Amino acid sequence: MVIPHGIRTLGVLGAGQMGLGIAYVATLRAKVPVVLCDKSPEQVDRGLKLFDKLLAKDVSKGKIQDVDAKEARDRLTVVSKEKGIAGLRDVDMVIEAASENLTLKQSLFKSLAAELRPNAILASNTSSISITKIAASAIHQDHSSASEMGKLSASRVVGLHFFNPVPVMKLVELISALQTSPDTLERARAFALACGKEVTQSQDVPGFVSNALLMPFINEAIMCLEKGVATRDDIDKTLKLGMNHPMGPLQLADFIGLDTCLAIQQTLYQGTGDSKYRPSILLERMVDAQWYGKKNGKGFYDYETTP
Ligand code: 3HC
Repeated sequence: MVIPHGIRTLGVLGAGQMGLGIAYVATLRAKVPVVLCDKSPEQVDRGLKLFDKLLAKDVSKGKIQDVDAKEARDRLTVVSKEKGIAGLRDVDMVIEAASENLTLKQSLFKSLAAELRPNAILASNTSSISITKIAASAIHQDHSSASEMGKLSASRVVGLHFFNPVPVMKLVELISALQTSPDTLERARAFALACGKEVTQSQDVPGFVSNALLMPFINEAIMCLEKGVATRDDIDKTLKLGMNHPMGPLQLADFIGLDTCLAIQQTLYQGTGDSKYRPSILLERMVDAQWYGKKNGKGFYDYETTP
């Protein structure tokens, strides 16, 4: 059978909530074997527990059968810490879902370009970082014609931006770097569709469409709180009940992670130089205090953390 995306095995780099969500839809909906890679064995353990919990929840709700859950679980394997990125060598596409840090992503893509097969796709789930900059680091140097291989590797880099919680949110944002080849773009699109998602396409601008719109909205809500325009609860209630948003902007910021929101806002501000994207001081201070939101128990709201 011809598969339009040509992905017979997927690698997921990063076992956080985004990486596991991607592994979930890839194994369950696209029915593709997934190899999961993360430098932290503890993170992998947490991720696998989350994966099993999601499957069990969908079975108990009758959304999937036991057999579907078992097949999805059997499709997921983990690379040992010792093997690291070399353990992804045989996959047809990697989706990187590491932290929002350009230097980290550039170093990962350099290693991926060196390890993966020449026709493998290198996708990033970045929320805001330039795919063109990431692609420029995907240079394979262990070759006689280094510059030509460099061009080839960069042409296989693409942005595939999933939304949290990945099993629930219907969208994937597709971003083409300047270097991305049309074939890479179309295969990445076909793969997102196979995962049961709808796809929109954005140019490679800071924050793409999604976060260029969402982050100023969240930041403005934080500034309202900072200036005492309204209470936390009234800001969120206004948007929930007045505009039918599923979460108010402060609750949503906690849900995304305040550190992630700040990193995206800094990318927007630095990437455009436009003062409308300047992060609020309150957000900066909360991140200084290591109040990251739902993930570690404290943000605009307090949360119970599981040990
Ligand atoms: N993982 C998997 N499924 C989840 C989940 C999770 N973390 N959280 C909730 N769900 C599922 C529930 O199981 C339930 O499924 P069901 O319909 O089969 O019963 C469904 O979602 C609804 O959940 P609940 O009834 O428990 O709660 P809510 O109705 O309040 O919905 C929500 C929860 C889906 C998270 C909803 O509040 C929502 O849509 N919030 C906004 C989320 C959002 O905007 N995400 C995008 C963030 S931006 C982003 O990711 C981009 C990045 O670059 C910053």
